[in-house]
Amino acid sequence: MNEQRDAPYPELKKTHTMAHVGRPWTDFKPPTAAPVWAAIEGLGRYYILVAALDLNIFDTLQRTGPSTVEQLSEELSLPVLHLRALLDAVVTLELLEQVRNVYDLNDAAKRYLVSDGPATMAGLVPVAPGPHENWSRLADTVRQGKPAYPIEDDPAAFYIPLVEGTFTTMHRCATRADLKIRYSAMPEARVLELGAGGAPWSIAILQRNGRATALVNDLHEVLPVARANAKRFGLTDRIECRPGDFHTVEIENESYDLAILGHICRTEGEDGAKHLIQRAFSALVPGGRLILSDYFCDRERKLNPHAVLMGATMMASTTRGFTFTHEEFSGWLRDAGFEALRLIEPIGFQQCFVAVKPAIKGT
Ligand SMILES: C[S@@+](CC[C@H](N)C(=O)[O-])C[C@H]1O[C@@H](n2cnc3c(N)ncnc32)[C@H](O)[C@@H]1O
Repeated sequence: MNEQRDAPYPELKKTHTMAHVGRPWTDFKPPTAAPVWAAIEGLGRYYILVAALDLNIFDTLQRTGPSTVEQLSEELSLPVLHLRALLDAVVTLELLEQVRNVYDLNDAAKRYLVSDGPATMAGLVPVAPGPHENWSRLADTVRQGKPAYPIEDDPAAFYIPLVEGTFTTMHRCATRADLKIRYSAMPEARVLELGAGGAPWSIAILQRNGRATALVNDLHEVLPVARANAKRFGLTDRIECRPGDFHTVEIENESYDLAILGHICRTEGEDGAKHLIQRAFSALVPGGRLILSDYFCDRERKLNPHAVLMGATMMASTTRGFTFTHEEFSGWLRDAGFEALRLIEPIGFQQCFVAVKPAIKGT
């Protein structure tokens, strides 16, 4: 029977018809339950990582080097059995090394989970899914068409830790984008960054182009993150901060060479995204370029699970947010008047549209 169940073409090896046995073939060759278990375990996997970060496991191992569970228990003042259960679970997540009773950071943990890792996500993990309470109420959100605790009710509480947590990755993306956009070679680069968070694009551009200046916008309560980063990178003199709602804040027409809409369209719904694109178009000089980064779905919403799941995250925690397809965004960009659309991926999984406002004819 086992031989038959594991055969590559079990239906060809069927030794009976359903009429003989009187029950469905799926009793003999059931579909795997792995996707169901993956979903069930997903909740635990997430909170295992949140707890490991909360308990400083990764930073401690960075300091101590390879350590036994007893040494870590002493170091962290945690009970051995509970700590071992957590460490073993993190090993199953492939985020720690383990040899018998000794645990150590692996390369992924060194890069993403220690707080000063080169692409650290330590601050991002607890906040990235949005308010956790919204997930246990997801069915209600779908029924009612709105979440219980939309992030718009208290945007600063959500966005300040989020943009602090995403800065390293977005700054790396913006830095690498120079290879495609060559902003470092622009004779004049006046940058407009709406909903800038920590201002990763303005900072990357100003670091590589000594003539560039930037106008950085975000909500009043969130803007201090950009100010602090500007100071940290010694760019305060070349960055103007302008607080306000990006849909209504005053922006000078035809005054910027580069406009950045970095991961701000997907919370705004179709109309809001189109409005932001239109604002960027008006703000750019003829020949100026828009950089619009987000998580884009393919036409059939199935080839990029990360973007599809990000759409569910937006639905779970925002009043208007969803993810959209490449086709939808390129249509909106063309409708706004942009041309010469390109899609670039400066670092893995970070895609950006680059679109040009037509130069005035004859120039
Ligand atoms: C996902 S973060 C993206 C931050 C940054 N642009 C980046 O790419 O890393 C969204 C940003 O938009 C800001 N934001 C949200 N709603 C806003 C609004 N109505 N007006 C201005 N900024 C807003 C948030 O405070 C947050 O900094």
